[in-house]
Amino acid sequence: MASVVVVGAQWGDEGKGKVVDLLTKYADYVVRFQGGNNAGHTLVVDGKQYIFHIIPSGILYQDKVCAIGNGVIVDAQVLLGEMDNLAEKGLAVRPERLLISANAHLIMPYHRMLDQAREGALSSNKKIGTTGRGIGPCYMDKVGRTGLKMGDLLDMALFREKLAASIEEKNFLLTQLYQQPAIDAKAIAADFEKLAERLAPYIGNVSVVLDEARRAGKHILFEGAQGTQLDVDHGTYPFVTSSNTIAGNACTGSGFGPAHIDEVIGIIKAYTTRVGGGPFPTELPEGDAIGDHLQNKGHEFGATTGRRRRCGWFDGVVARDAVRLNGLTGLAVTKLDVLSGLDSLQLASHYQVEGRRFDRMPENILQAALAQPVYESMPGWKEDITAVRSYADLPRKTRDYLQRLEDLSGARPVIVSVGPGREETMLLRNPFEQA
Ligand code: IMP
Repeated sequence: MASVVVVGAQWGDEGKGKVVDLLTKYADYVVRFQGGNNAGHTLVVDGKQYIFHIIPSGILYQDKVCAIGNGVIVDAQVLLGEMDNLAEKGLAVRPERLLISANAHLIMPYHRMLDQAREGALSSNKKIGTTGRGIGPCYMDKVGRTGLKMGDLLDMALFREKLAASIEEKNFLLTQLYQQPAIDAKAIAADFEKLAERLAPYIGNVSVVLDEARRAGKHILFEGAQGTQLDVDHGTYPFVTSSNTIAGNACTGSGFGPAHIDEVIGIIKAYTTRVGGGPFPTELPEGDAIGDHLQNKGHEFGATTGRRRRCGWFDGVVARDAVRLNGLTGLAVTKLDVLSGLDSLQLASHYQVEGRRFDRMPENILQAALAQPVYESMPGWKEDITAVRSYADLPRKTRDYLQRLEDLSGARPVIVSVGPGREETMLLRNPFEQA
């Protein structure tokens, strides 16, 4: 029995989808604990393409149970759309295989409208570059104690009452502050009535089910979304998402006790990317030949919004923050093959900010924006490494790079990914077997 948490170590898009897919093979339960359909990953299995924004990709395995914890926020329409897509491909989702916490909050249509209106009203240097999926406004209602939860779908009279209480304020904001059309509570309630009927059989108590699973000796995989530097408390605030993305939230966001977590694996790209606004000390400017190499060879476009990702060198400060904040017991290094062909590689060991050394991301966002990375240079390798399946067969310079990455971060690679395919991966240590 083991419980393993997987989190993004940078600003999201580290290749979690592929690593989660790999580790799911060894798990009995796969659990999401935060975020919503701002996340996204694409998997190709047996020639069929699947895009997941909310359901754990473990649903593709017939013998796994997937759970959506209380820390997740759910766009019910998107969720049902994903279920319909799976059914069309011959994979009907049944309640025995998908459980949604009654305490998970619902993303309402007005959350999406407010998210987009708020972003639209910000000046260009203040824009967070949200995904526009209603994430911030939904979490605001959750913390403000005015949100609607999955469990409310089981009592539509109560749902309508709560909705009516919330909608007055939302309409004031939409019409008066953002010059948007007002929304109609009755129409929303009617839509949700239909959604509720379909979703009711999936709603339950994730905490109880996971506890029973743990006692029965099952393997549980907790799948984080976004990345450490996007954490609402520990990231580059305000250029963050609205949830805690770090490993601690695997417990809070699912109702699982911290003493039962055995391993925490941080997924980290061999370089760095970021989508949306905010500080990114090792960013290479647009038009830079190496930045273009990383962008093109790494196909660095967002899975949810299709936006071009900003690209830069590996950042040891970000990596160390991730090891500390998540208590990482290992790293999954992804996209190592993208670096092949570069003459020399740079890794940031620390920052200088106005003459002061920083070994962590500065808490002050203005200082973070001014951070100058101090680089070490290493020779690159020319070989194509996509066919390599054992650590010892990697070129010497590639192994040296991985060693430096380990030294700078303080955590050892347990998985190394050298290409997008399922098989283009080295599992150096299985966290489920050795926990
Ligand atoms: P939100 O989560 O839509 O509110 O967006 C807030 C910030 O987080 C923006 O900079 C987004 O680009 C970023 N973000 C949200 N979800 C993801 C993700 O899954 N990968 C990478 N960045 C994300």
